[in-house]
Amino acid sequence: MNILITGATSKTAEAITRILYAETDWTIYLLSSHFTFKQTSHRIKSYTVNYLNLVELKKIIYELKPDVIINCAALTNVDECETNRKLCMDLNATLVENLASISRVIDCHLITISTDFIFNGKKGPYVEDAIPEPLNYYGKCKHIAENSCRVGLTKYTIIRTSVVFGVSSHNKGNFISTLLEKFNAEKEFKIITGQWGTPTITDDIAQCILKVLLYKKYGIYNAAGTTFLNRYELAVKVAKCFGFDSSLVIPIYPSEINQRAIRPEKAGLVTLKAKTDLKCEYADIDSALFSYRLQLNEGQQFYSNFLYN
Ligand SMILES: NC(=O)c1ccc[n+]([C@@H]2O[C@H](COP(=O)([O-])OP(=O)(O)OC[C@H]3O[C@@H](n4cnc5c(N)ncnc54)[C@H](OP(=O)(O)O)[C@@H]3O)[C@@H](O)[C@H]2O)c1
Repeated sequence: MNILITGATSKTAEAITRILYAETDWTIYLLSSHFTFKQTSHRIKSYTVNYLNLVELKKIIYELKPDVIINCAALTNVDECETNRKLCMDLNATLVENLASISRVIDCHLITISTDFIFNGKKGPYVEDAIPEPLNYYGKCKHIAENSCRVGLTKYTIIRTSVVFGVSSHNKGNFISTLLEKFNAEKEFKIITGQWGTPTITDDIAQCILKVLLYKKYGIYNAAGTTFLNRYELAVKVAKCFGFDSSLVIPIYPSEINQRAIRPEKAGLVTLKAKTDLKCEYADIDSALFSYRLQLNEGQQFYSNFLYN
Protein backbone atom coordinates (compact mmCIF):
# COMPACT_ATOMS: atom_id res chain seq x y z
CA MET A 1 0.00 0.00 0.00
CA ASN A 2 1.14 3.58 -0.71
CA ILE A 3 0.39 6.24 1.91
CA LEU A 4 0.74 9.96 1.27
CA ILE A 5 1.04 12.20 4.34
CA THR A 6 0.60 15.98 4.10
CA GLY A 7 1.95 18.33 6.76
CA ALA A 8 4.93 15.97 7.10
CA THR A 9 6.76 18.18 9.60
CA SER A 10 3.81 18.30 12.02
CA LYS A 11 4.18 16.49 15.32
CA THR A 12 1.26 14.23 14.42
CA ALA A 13 2.71 13.25 11.01
CA GLU A 14 6.00 12.47 12.72
CA ALA A 15 4.35 9.87 14.98
CA ILE A 16 2.24 8.48 12.13
CA THR A 17 5.32 8.05 9.91
CA ARG A 18 7.30 6.43 12.73
CA ILE A 19 4.54 3.94 13.54
CA LEU A 20 3.53 3.11 9.95
CA TYR A 21 7.18 2.64 9.05
CA ALA A 22 7.77 0.28 11.97
CA GLU A 23 4.52 -1.69 11.84
CA THR A 24 3.94 -2.13 8.09
CA ASP A 25 5.81 -2.59 4.84
CA TRP A 26 3.93 0.25 3.17
CA THR A 27 5.56 3.01 1.11
CA ILE A 28 5.21 6.48 2.62
CA TYR A 29 5.21 9.70 0.58
CA LEU A 30 5.89 12.72 2.81
CA LEU A 31 4.53 16.04 1.54
CA SER A 32 5.72 19.23 3.17
CA SER A 33 5.14 22.87 2.35
CA HIS A 34 8.76 23.73 3.06
CA PHE A 35 10.99 20.79 3.95
CA THR A 36 12.69 18.04 1.97
CA PHE A 37 13.64 14.96 3.95
CA LYS A 38 16.83 13.12 3.26
CA GLN A 39 16.00 9.84 1.60
CA THR A 40 17.45 7.03 3.69
CA SER A 41 14.92 4.33 2.87
CA HIS A 42 13.35 3.17 -0.37
CA ARG A 43 10.06 3.09 1.58
CA ILE A 44 10.01 6.82 2.39
CA LYS A 45 9.98 9.50 -0.29
CA SER A 46 9.81 13.22 0.26
CA TYR A 47 8.28 16.05 -1.80
CA THR A 48 7.63 19.74 -1.27
CA VAL A 49 4.41 21.29 -2.49
CA ASN A 50 2.46 24.50 -2.17
CA TYR A 51 -0.84 23.26 -0.72
CA LEU A 52 -2.58 26.39 -1.90
CA ASN A 53 -1.67 25.77 -5.54
CA LEU A 54 -4.28 23.28 -6.70
CA VAL A 55 -2.56 22.61 -10.04
CA GLU A 56 0.68 21.69 -8.27
CA LEU A 57 -1.14 19.64 -5.65
CA LYS A 58 -3.10 17.69 -8.25
CA LYS A 59 -0.02 17.08 -10.39
CA ILE A 60 1.97 15.52 -7.61
CA ILE A 61 -0.85 13.42 -6.17
CA TYR A 62 -2.09 12.21 -9.57
CA GLU A 63 1.48 11.12 -10.34
CA LEU A 64 1.96 9.29 -7.05
CA LYS A 65 -1.57 7.78 -7.00
CA PRO A 66 -1.52 6.87 -3.31
CA ASP A 67 -4.02 4.37 -1.90
CA VAL A 68 -4.44 6.59 1.16
CA ILE A 69 -3.94 10.30 1.91
CA ILE A 70 -3.46 11.26 5.56
CA ASN A 71 -3.85 15.02 5.93
CA CYS A 72 -1.97 16.54 8.88
CA ALA A 73 -1.36 20.00 7.36
CA ALA A 74 -3.18 22.72 9.27
CA LEU A 75 -2.91 26.12 10.83
CA THR A 76 -3.14 24.96 14.45
CA ASN A 77 -2.62 28.24 16.31
CA VAL A 78 -6.20 29.00 17.27
CA ASP A 79 -5.57 32.70 18.00
CA GLU A 80 -3.68 33.17 14.72
CA CYS A 81 -6.67 31.64 12.94
CA GLU A 82 -8.84 34.53 14.20
CA THR A 83 -6.55 37.17 12.71
CA ASN A 84 -5.30 35.32 9.63
CA ARG A 85 -8.70 34.10 8.51
CA LYS A 86 -7.79 33.67 4.85
CA LEU A 87 -4.88 31.35 5.61
CA CYS A 88 -7.02 29.50 8.15
CA MET A 89 -9.75 28.95 5.57
CA ASP A 90 -7.22 28.00 2.85
CA LEU A 91 -5.35 25.42 4.93
CA ASN A 92 -7.97 24.14 7.34
CA ALA A 93 -10.95 23.97 4.99
CA THR A 94 -10.14 24.49 1.28
CA LEU A 95 -7.12 22.16 1.31
CA VAL A 96 -9.30 19.34 2.67
CA GLU A 97 -12.00 20.11 0.11
CA ASN A 98 -9.34 19.87 -2.63
CA LEU A 99 -7.89 16.66 -1.20
CA ALA A 100 -11.42 15.24 -1.15
CA SER A 101 -11.95 15.99 -4.83
CA ILE A 102 -8.53 14.57 -5.71
CA SER A 103 -9.30 11.45 -3.65
CA ARG A 104 -12.55 10.99 -5.53
CA VAL A 105 -10.73 11.10 -8.88
CA ILE A 106 -8.02 8.59 -7.93
CA ASP A 107 -10.36 6.55 -5.70
CA CYS A 108 -8.20 6.77 -2.61
CA HIS A 109 -9.06 6.77 1.10
CA LEU A 110 -8.80 10.26 2.66
CA ILE A 111 -8.01 10.50 6.35
CA THR A 112 -8.03 13.97 7.87
CA ILE A 113 -7.44 15.10 11.45
CA SER A 114 -10.10 17.20 13.14
CA THR A 115 -10.65 18.63 16.58
CA ASP A 116 -12.89 18.85 19.65
CA PHE A 117 -12.95 22.63 18.95
CA ILE A 118 -15.82 22.01 16.48
CA PHE A 119 -18.05 21.80 19.60
CA ASN A 120 -19.40 24.61 21.77
CA GLY A 121 -17.95 23.20 25.00
CA LYS A 122 -21.24 23.19 26.92
CA LYS A 123 -21.42 19.40 27.35
CA GLY A 124 -18.03 17.84 26.72
CA PRO A 125 -16.54 15.33 26.42
CA TYR A 126 -18.19 14.55 23.09
CA VAL A 127 -19.05 11.35 21.24
CA GLU A 128 -18.63 11.05 17.46
CA ASP A 129 -22.25 11.88 16.58
CA ALA A 130 -22.60 14.92 18.85
CA ILE A 131 -23.78 18.06 17.02
CA PRO A 132 -20.95 20.50 16.18
CA GLU A 133 -21.29 24.18 16.97
CA PRO A 134 -17.87 25.82 16.66
CA LEU A 135 -17.19 28.97 18.65
CA ASN A 136 -14.06 30.20 16.87
CA TYR A 137 -12.79 30.51 13.30
CA TYR A 138 -10.40 27.55 13.61
CA GLY A 139 -13.31 25.32 14.70
CA LYS A 140 -15.54 26.68 11.93
CA CYS A 141 -12.97 25.88 9.23
CA LYS A 142 -12.29 22.40 10.64
CA HIS A 143 -16.05 21.79 10.65
CA ILE A 144 -16.29 22.87 7.00
CA ALA A 145 -13.44 20.45 6.23
CA GLU A 146 -15.29 17.59 7.91
CA ASN A 147 -18.38 18.36 5.87
CA SER A 148 -16.41 18.35 2.59
CA CYS A 149 -15.41 14.76 3.34
CA ARG A 150 -18.83 13.66 4.52
CA VAL A 151 -20.69 15.16 1.57
CA GLY A 152 -18.31 14.28 -1.24
CA LEU A 153 -16.70 10.96 -0.33
CA THR A 154 -17.47 7.43 0.74
CA LYS A 155 -13.88 6.42 1.53
CA TYR A 156 -13.06 9.00 4.20
CA THR A 157 -12.14 8.85 7.87
CA ILE A 158 -12.20 11.87 10.15
CA ILE A 159 -9.98 11.45 13.21
CA ARG A 160 -10.96 13.94 15.91
CA THR A 161 -8.49 14.67 18.65
CA SER A 162 -7.86 17.06 21.56
CA VAL A 163 -4.89 19.00 23.05
CA VAL A 164 -2.22 17.16 21.04
CA PHE A 165 1.33 16.69 22.36
CA GLY A 166 4.31 14.65 21.25
CA VAL A 167 7.98 14.83 20.34
CA SER A 168 8.88 16.88 17.30
CA SER A 169 12.09 17.02 15.30
CA HIS A 170 10.79 20.28 13.86
CA ASN A 171 10.22 21.95 17.22
CA LYS A 172 6.47 21.98 16.82
CA GLY A 173 5.36 23.07 20.26
CA ASN A 174 2.33 22.03 22.24
CA PHE A 175 0.60 23.00 25.48
CA ILE A 176 2.79 20.63 27.54
CA SER A 177 6.04 21.94 26.04
CA THR A 178 4.89 25.49 26.85
CA LEU A 179 4.26 24.42 30.45
CA LEU A 180 7.71 22.79 30.63
CA GLU A 181 9.32 26.05 29.49
CA LYS A 182 7.45 27.92 32.20
CA PHE A 183 8.43 25.42 34.92
CA ASN A 184 12.05 25.54 33.75
CA ALA A 185 12.01 29.33 34.19
CA GLU A 186 11.31 28.65 37.92
CA LYS A 187 8.95 31.61 38.23
CA GLU A 188 5.28 31.55 39.19
CA PHE A 189 2.85 31.54 36.26
CA LYS A 190 -0.90 31.58 35.83
CA ILE A 191 -3.02 28.85 34.27
CA ILE A 192 -6.79 28.82 34.05
CA THR A 193 -8.96 26.39 35.97
CA GLY A 194 -11.16 26.02 32.88
CA GLN A 195 -10.88 24.75 29.29
CA TRP A 196 -11.38 21.07 29.79
CA GLY A 197 -10.09 18.56 27.27
CA THR A 198 -8.76 15.05 26.84
CA PRO A 199 -5.03 15.59 26.10
CA THR A 200 -3.67 13.18 23.53
CA ILE A 201 -0.19 11.92 22.80
CA THR A 202 0.57 11.78 19.06
CA ASP A 203 1.40 8.05 19.30
CA ASP A 204 -2.26 7.33 20.11
CA ILE A 205 -3.44 9.21 17.01
CA ALA A 206 -0.96 7.21 14.95
CA GLN A 207 -2.10 3.90 16.47
CA CYS A 208 -5.71 4.83 15.71
CA ILE A 209 -4.85 5.58 12.09
CA LEU A 210 -2.95 2.31 11.75
CA LYS A 211 -6.05 0.43 12.99
CA VAL A 212 -8.33 2.43 10.67
CA LEU A 213 -6.16 1.31 7.76
CA LEU A 214 -5.80 -2.31 8.87
CA TYR A 215 -9.56 -2.67 9.50
CA LYS A 216 -10.53 -0.42 6.54
CA LYS A 217 -12.84 1.74 8.66
CA TYR A 218 -14.60 4.85 7.40
CA GLY A 219 -16.55 7.61 9.15
CA ILE A 220 -15.63 9.54 12.29
CA TYR A 221 -13.41 8.24 15.10
CA ASN A 222 -12.24 10.01 18.22
CA ALA A 223 -8.55 9.50 19.00
CA ALA A 224 -7.94 11.03 22.41
CA GLY A 225 -6.55 10.47 25.86
CA THR A 226 -8.84 8.93 28.46
CA THR A 227 -8.45 11.63 31.14
CA PHE A 228 -10.82 14.61 31.10
CA LEU A 229 -9.24 17.54 32.91
CA ASN A 230 -8.83 21.30 32.82
CA ARG A 231 -5.66 23.23 32.00
CA TYR A 232 -4.74 23.88 35.64
CA GLU A 233 -5.13 20.19 36.54
CA LEU A 234 -3.01 19.34 33.52
CA ALA A 235 -0.26 21.73 34.63
CA VAL A 236 -0.19 20.06 38.06
CA LYS A 237 0.07 16.62 36.41
CA VAL A 238 2.96 17.88 34.26
CA ALA A 239 4.76 19.24 37.35
CA LYS A 240 4.43 15.88 39.10
CA CYS A 241 5.53 13.81 36.11
CA PHE A 242 8.53 15.99 35.25
CA GLY A 243 9.60 16.66 38.84
CA PHE A 244 8.76 20.38 39.05
CA ASP A 245 7.27 22.34 41.92
CA SER A 246 3.51 22.47 41.23
CA SER A 247 3.11 25.49 43.52
CA LEU A 248 4.65 27.57 40.71
CA VAL A 249 1.29 27.27 38.91
CA ILE A 250 -1.22 29.85 40.08
CA PRO A 251 -4.82 28.89 39.24
CA ILE A 252 -6.97 31.66 37.75
CA TYR A 253 -10.52 31.80 36.41
CA PRO A 254 -11.02 31.74 32.61
CA SER A 255 -12.55 35.24 32.81
CA GLU A 256 -9.19 36.55 34.05
CA ILE A 257 -7.36 35.94 30.77
CA ASN A 258 -7.88 37.56 27.44
CA GLN A 259 -7.51 35.19 24.49
CA ARG A 260 -8.23 36.30 20.94
CA ALA A 261 -10.22 33.18 20.05
CA ILE A 262 -13.07 32.01 22.26
CA ARG A 263 -12.37 28.48 23.54
CA PRO A 264 -14.99 25.83 24.30
CA GLU A 265 -15.15 25.46 28.09
CA LYS A 266 -15.78 21.72 28.26
CA ALA A 267 -14.40 20.14 25.08
CA GLY A 268 -12.69 16.73 25.04
CA LEU A 269 -13.72 13.49 23.38
CA VAL A 270 -15.23 10.16 24.40
CA THR A 271 -13.38 7.23 22.84
CA LEU A 272 -15.70 4.24 23.29
CA LYS A 273 -16.35 3.86 19.55
CA ALA A 274 -12.65 3.57 18.68
CA LYS A 275 -12.11 1.17 21.57
CA THR A 276 -14.98 -1.03 20.39
CA ASP A 277 -14.56 -0.87 16.60
CA LEU A 278 -10.80 -0.49 16.33
CA LYS A 279 -9.60 -2.07 19.60
CA CYS A 280 -7.71 1.17 20.32
CA GLU A 281 -6.16 1.44 23.78
CA TYR A 282 -5.66 5.14 24.46
CA ALA A 283 -3.43 6.29 27.30
CA ASP A 284 -4.55 8.07 30.46
CA ILE A 285 -2.79 11.37 31.14
CA ASP A 286 -0.24 9.94 33.60
CA SER A 287 0.93 7.22 31.19
CA ALA A 288 0.93 9.60 28.23
CA LEU A 289 3.04 12.17 30.08
CA PHE A 290 5.38 9.43 31.24
CA SER A 291 5.86 8.23 27.62
CA TYR A 292 6.39 11.80 26.45
CA ARG A 293 9.04 12.35 29.14
CA LEU A 294 10.83 9.15 28.13
CA GLN A 295 10.73 10.12 24.46
CA LEU A 296 12.09 13.58 25.22
CA ASN A 297 14.86 12.14 27.39
CA GLU A 298 15.83 9.52 24.87
CA GLY A 299 15.64 11.93 21.94
CA GLN A 300 13.20 9.69 20.11
CA GLN A 301 12.43 12.20 17.42
CA PHE A 302 11.89 9.85 14.53
CA TYR A 303 12.95 12.17 11.79
CA SER A 304 16.21 13.19 13.40
CA ASN A 305 17.09 9.61 14.32
CA PHE A 306 16.16 8.21 10.99
CA LEU A 307 15.66 10.57 8.10
CA TYR A 308 18.42 13.05 8.87
CA ASN A 309 21.24 10.65 9.69
N1 LIG B 1 -2.28 20.73 18.21
C1 LIG B 1 -3.43 20.43 18.83
O1 LIG B 1 -3.57 20.60 20.05
C2 LIG B 1 -4.56 19.82 18.02
C3 LIG B 1 -5.76 19.55 18.68
C4 LIG B 1 -6.80 18.98 17.94
C5 LIG B 1 -6.63 18.70 16.60
N2 LIG B 1 -5.45 19.01 15.99
C6 LIG B 1 -5.31 18.72 14.56
O2 LIG B 1 -4.32 17.72 14.38
C7 LIG B 1 -3.66 17.92 13.11
C8 LIG B 1 -2.16 17.92 13.31
O3 LIG B 1 -1.85 18.96 14.24
P1 LIG B 1 -0.38 19.16 14.81
O4 LIG B 1 -0.54 19.89 16.10
O5 LIG B 1 0.36 17.87 14.75
O6 LIG B 1 0.22 20.16 13.72
P2 LIG B 1 1.53 21.09 13.84
O7 LIG B 1 2.57 20.35 14.61
O8 LIG B 1 1.10 22.44 14.30
O9 LIG B 1 1.97 21.18 12.31
C9 LIG B 1 1.08 21.57 11.29
C10 LIG B 1 1.77 21.40 9.93
O10 LIG B 1 0.97 22.03 8.94
C11 LIG B 1 1.80 22.60 7.95
N3 LIG B 1 1.58 24.05 7.96
C12 LIG B 1 1.41 24.84 9.03
N4 LIG B 1 1.29 26.13 8.69
C13 LIG B 1 1.41 26.16 7.39
C14 LIG B 1 1.39 27.22 6.45
N5 LIG B 1 1.23 28.49 6.81
N6 LIG B 1 1.52 26.90 5.16
C15 LIG B 1 1.67 25.63 4.79
N7 LIG B 1 1.69 24.57 5.65
C16 LIG B 1 1.58 24.85 6.94
C17 LIG B 1 3.26 22.33 8.34
O11 LIG B 1 3.69 21.12 7.71
P3 LIG B 1 4.58 21.10 6.34
O12 LIG B 1 5.20 22.45 6.17
O13 LIG B 1 5.60 20.03 6.58
O14 LIG B 1 3.63 20.78 5.26
C18 LIG B 1 3.13 22.08 9.83
O15 LIG B 1 4.17 21.28 10.32
C19 LIG B 1 -4.24 19.22 12.54
O16 LIG B 1 -5.26 18.91 11.65
C20 LIG B 1 -4.84 19.91 13.75
O17 LIG B 1 -5.89 20.77 13.41
C21 LIG B 1 -4.39 19.54 16.67
